[in-house]
Amino acid sequence: MDINALKGKIEQEISSVKNIEDLEKVRTLLLGRKGILSEYIDRIKTLDKEERKIFGREINLLKQWTEEKLREFKQFYEDEEKNRRELVTWIDISMPGKTPVTGKKHPITQTLEEIIKIFSTLGFSVAEGPDIESDYYNFEALNIPHDHPARDMQDTFYIKKGVVLRTHTSPVQIRVMESQLPPVKIIAPGAVYRCDSDVSHTPMFHQVEGLMVDRHVRFSDLKGILSIFIQEMFGSNTPLRFRPSYFPFTEPSAEVDIGCVICGGRGCRVCKDTGWLEILGSGMVHPQVFRIVGYDPEEVTGFAFGMGVERVAMIKFGIDDIRQFYYNDIRFLSQF
Ligand code: PHE
Repeated sequence: MDINALKGKIEQEISSVKNIEDLEKVRTLLLGRKGILSEYIDRIKTLDKEERKIFGREINLLKQWTEEKLREFKQFYEDEEKNRRELVTWIDISMPGKTPVTGKKHPITQTLEEIIKIFSTLGFSVAEGPDIESDYYNFEALNIPHDHPARDMQDTFYIKKGVVLRTHTSPVQIRVMESQLPPVKIIAPGAVYRCDSDVSHTPMFHQVEGLMVDRHVRFSDLKGILSIFIQEMFGSNTPLRFRPSYFPFTEPSAEVDIGCVICGGRGCRVCKDTGWLEILGSGMVHPQVFRIVGYDPEEVTGFAFGMGVERVAMIKFGIDDIRQFYYNDIRFLSQF
């Protein structure tokens, strides 16, 4: 038996070890039950007594030596692993900090809050009504006749007969007047719903309703309040105009346009070359609406308006597709 050749083989195997996995493989190869050393130990039995004694001792020493070597290697790899872990968890306090990603208020919320702020400085308080509304409040009490196109199934989401998702915030006018006596000076912000979807319509959008009722409220009061609002919202040089219009619940009625903030009135894609952008509907409260809520139209007068919040936000931020507000794309939302 060539002990030196065996030792050479063992050294060669050990020197091939590169990591802890190799180490385990080599351990089995050398010291395992069917390993190289066991094979030699088995062969000792075939030798005569004297030889058995000598080789027995040599092999035993070699086995101890191998075990010791493998232990050393194991220790080495374990230390190395420990150091690596420490390195990973080591904190470099001189590194620049990671800024956490913070959320922001949705541009529609920002716009709503700004609108509310402007009107509260003008003495308006905030009123609210339900999103799910009865036919009566959404249409009937607002003097909207049965054959009015707004009642068409194509515009209105009907929940069941007589119950709709409100198509505007005007029903809040009725609810407020039913529950309090004049004077009334409120705005009513909230979501409204219409079955419509394209670059300028989403099935859900927001409006802010305004209502002021008292003795001697005139159209000029409406004009004054809205002029102040528009100057606060879009800048003091923003021109506005009142355009005659029709709503069943106001008489006379007007739509309000502001000079296009994109092109400054010269005409562009956003204002469809008119130089003007429509932002709200308004008018003097119809006497019939007063009668319905039990107010005396001989005693009081009032104005009302309703503006689209998305519309205001689009103009303010220069956005040309209303649907952007509701894609929930963080790249869009984080710009505001
Ligand atoms: N409710 C109307 C609409 O949604 C807007 C409006 C409100 C008009 C109040 C006049 C007065 O179009």
